[in-house]
Amino acid sequence: MGGTAQTQGSLPTSVGPSGTPGVTGTRTDPSTPDLPVSGSGTATGKSGTAPSATPSTGRAADPDGAAGAAGIGDPYYPLAGNGGYQVDSYDVTLTYDPAANRLSARTAVEGSVTAPGRLGRFDLDLQPSMRVSQVQVGDTDAAFRQDGAELVVTPARGLDPGAALSVVVDYAGQPGEIRGGTAGASGGGWYRTDSGGAVVAGEPFSASAWYPVNEHPADLATFTVTATVPTPWQVISGGVRLTDGVVPPPAGMATFRWAQRVPVASYLTTVYIDRFSTEVGTLPDGRLIVSAFAPGSEAGRYRKLAADTARIVEVLADHFGRYPFEAVGGIYTGQPLAFALETATRPVYADWVDTDTIVHELAHQWYGDSVAVQRWRDICLNECLASYAPLLWHEDVDGTDLDRWWTGRMKAVAGDARFWRTPLVDMGPGREFSSVYDRGPLAVHALRKEIGEAAFATVLREWPTRNAGRTVTFEAWQAFVEQVAGRDLSGFFDAWFRGRVVPSDPYRHPGGL
Ligand code: TRP
Ligand code: ZN
Repeated sequence: MGGTAQTQGSLPTSVGPSGTPGVTGTRTDPSTPDLPVSGSGTATGKSGTAPSATPSTGRAADPDGAAGAAGIGDPYYPLAGNGGYQVDSYDVTLTYDPAANRLSARTAVEGSVTAPGRLGRFDLDLQPSMRVSQVQVGDTDAAFRQDGAELVVTPARGLDPGAALSVVVDYAGQPGEIRGGTAGASGGGWYRTDSGGAVVAGEPFSASAWYPVNEHPADLATFTVTATVPTPWQVISGGVRLTDGVVPPPAGMATFRWAQRVPVASYLTTVYIDRFSTEVGTLPDGRLIVSAFAPGSEAGRYRKLAADTARIVEVLADHFGRYPFEAVGGIYTGQPLAFALETATRPVYADWVDTDTIVHELAHQWYGDSVAVQRWRDICLNECLASYAPLLWHEDVDGTDLDRWWTGRMKAVAGDARFWRTPLVDMGPGREFSSVYDRGPLAVHALRKEIGEAAFATVLREWPTRNAGRTVTFEAWQAFVEQVAGRDLSGFFDAWFRGRVVPSDPYRHPGGL
């Protein structure tokens, strides 16, 4: 099923400096600013670390107003995201040298102040491997310092509640993997490819590896990247390719601009830089399918798999409603990554990609991307549904009997205490990506039997349709299901989604299964 087995397996493979043993957990040495620092710091920033190794820059400022919190308030990852503001758009302009793994960039962040009083200081999330040289807030130089994975900004003048926030950050460094992300499950961030390129993927953390960000899914934003690389390297990202207003690059360089113009969470943004080949097609309504295939012998296999993209989108749209984005496609990295990721419009795939994985990641475009979780404890809204999607696909295209699948699977796991130990909701930090993949689809099918075909079909379609562009909680989903079903389902939901043991009668045999 999708990335299930792989997700629980080994760490993602990374090649080159970011995979070099021995740098894990080291801090940046200020005297060697260009050292590969992929292992430095953690995704959660300053916890338990020495004082920042990165020198402060700018004036020793007194903040003109209160400081925004260093985290957005998600208890699973206390330093993920930030307080005091929200972001509407990121605009990243970068130059990348694959040979040196050297990135230099300017990122513009536009948003607004959400703090109840004057905001005198705020954080952005940025891994310490990115050395900041300048920060401007509303065209004026701001003081700043880097403290672990927190970029602490003190604007010259405080910002009033509701005011527009406009930040421009200049920085450079050697991007790498972020350690300490989803505890144990996986890292995330900037990975090198066998062919010397790079690809970004990670959940819950990846964006802070290469741009300053409010790194939490509760803050959705549009995203544009303008990347300049030496020829013949190419760049692909989410959304649509734009050519208007792209400044002609210096000789021997090429510039690519991609824009994800429908807001998404930052872990759903990516960039893939390689000597890949591309294929362009269209959905029946004309929206573009753009996929990239890693250089090498496997590209043919990936192209065959990708040829089903339009059909998969059509089958999923039949269940979930209109496809929510401007374009679609995939990034077939050919790398032995430990995971695939549902990056918006263009999921990132590993070398073990198969049709079920593509169905899973494309299902996320509705469940996870267009509609996002407000807190990581509610990740079942993404993964339980995306893991059910390949079953819907097989039911539709090869007539798989899902009741039989469910009964057989339940027989196998009913007596396995370990299988039921991790609940699907509020499973605990570091446990988000485990039971949701196998117990999740069993619970979703049980729900289908419990509420019946018509109500289930309504839930599958209306939830993403009504909540497009919003962040949601599991409680809100349960309330919606109960509303559609016309009755209280708290016993059922507690048994199947929150319980730590196999559901007991009467919930063990939903719809008489
Ligand atoms: N959400 C990814 C999927 O659809 C899986 C995943 C879990 C993941 N943890 C991750 C991806 C960490 C990248 C990094 O299967
Ligand atoms: Zn998934």
